[in-house]
Amino acid sequence: MTKTYDIAVIPGDGIGKEVMPEGVRALEAASQLFDFNLNLEYFDFACAEYYQQHGKMLPDDWFEQLEGFDALFFGAVGLPDVVPDHVSLWGSLLQFRRHFDQYVNLRPVKLMPGVASPLAGREPGDVDFLVVRENTEGEYSSIGGKMFEGTERETVIQETVMTRTGVDRILKYAFNLAQDRPEKHLTSATKSNGISITMPYWDERVKAMQSSYPEVDVDSYHIDILTANFVMHPDWFDIVVASNLFGDILSDLGPACTGTIGIAPSANINPEGTFPSLFEPVHGSAPDIAGQGIANPIGQIWSASLMLDHLGERDAAAAVLEAIESTLATGELTPDMGGSATTDSLGSAVVRALSA
Ligand code: NAI
Ligand code: MG
Repeated sequence: MTKTYDIAVIPGDGIGKEVMPEGVRALEAASQLFDFNLNLEYFDFACAEYYQQHGKMLPDDWFEQLEGFDALFFGAVGLPDVVPDHVSLWGSLLQFRRHFDQYVNLRPVKLMPGVASPLAGREPGDVDFLVVRENTEGEYSSIGGKMFEGTERETVIQETVMTRTGVDRILKYAFNLAQDRPEKHLTSATKSNGISITMPYWDERVKAMQSSYPEVDVDSYHIDILTANFVMHPDWFDIVVASNLFGDILSDLGPACTGTIGIAPSANINPEGTFPSLFEPVHGSAPDIAGQGIANPIGQIWSASLMLDHLGERDAAAAVLEAIESTLATGELTPDMGGSATTDSLGSAVVRALSA
């Protein structure tokens, strides 16, 4: 029987609304080629217009509305002239990530043909790794407080929280990924020389997990030299696993090394499938170029590929990624990549390459 996937489509604001149709076109083309059905349902919340009408980013029953979907396909949210950024982000995207326990943030970093890397002399093939970021605990906790405000004794404390459950589940996900890749190589980001309680604990859990994955090669770098090595030796990495803060930094630095933020995809994953996972480009709503039809749609289309992979349509996922690569190699590039293609022309070219 042909499989059907229920996908919630949430375009959001700005260029989110412009790149989403390209992501959807690629998904639909893939569904025809690989013989599965898509049931797409569009949602108009998580955007500034909704906020202006309702005074909030989401309806009260958003969780019930979305929890039954197989996946969430998200554009970008934010229109700072209308809604303050902390309100739009905390009021929507961060709610999805937390309440759907999307504890893996996955960002592929791959230098694409046709796209110039800011790292001199690097070619496609030199840069091809995945950053796996812990997405729910660690340094981003709400435990702490402020005392003696406004006095000489003013004191602020914010605690890092690492739980065995939280650390082990992200490590397990990363080790599984490494195990499935030809290189079977995992790098752990640490800082146990400076952060002397939680980071040695992280290292200890890496060692414990390693014993269940004898085929995986493991190395570990302190975060300071690791960032330097992303720039100096991006070819050293395959799977990079990191706590919330370190992963946040690495998952921006990685894609930056591949040229433009416009192509970078990301997945927020609940691996057990208890809740839907969310797939979105790394970039935001880019108000500076919104409405001009020149936004790079590749981040959204590549996110579609990640979503297909997550749904188990691995051939379709690989075909979409190949279509992206072969299209970029032809020089069909939007202005952020140095060309004059439009959102529509690049999106169409990817669909043509996919069907070719
Ligand atoms: P941004 O990613 O929207 O834009 C940064 C720069 O990159 C801009 O110059 C923009 O034109 C360019 N850019 C981004 N995506 C592009 C694309 N697909 N094609 C061509 N150029 C592209 O980040 P910024 O300016 O810091 O934030 C703008 C708004 O987006 C804010 O409201 C922010 O809160 C929100 N935001 C939302 C995110 C999300 O929904 N996940 C992530 C980051 C920011
Ligand atoms: Mg970030």
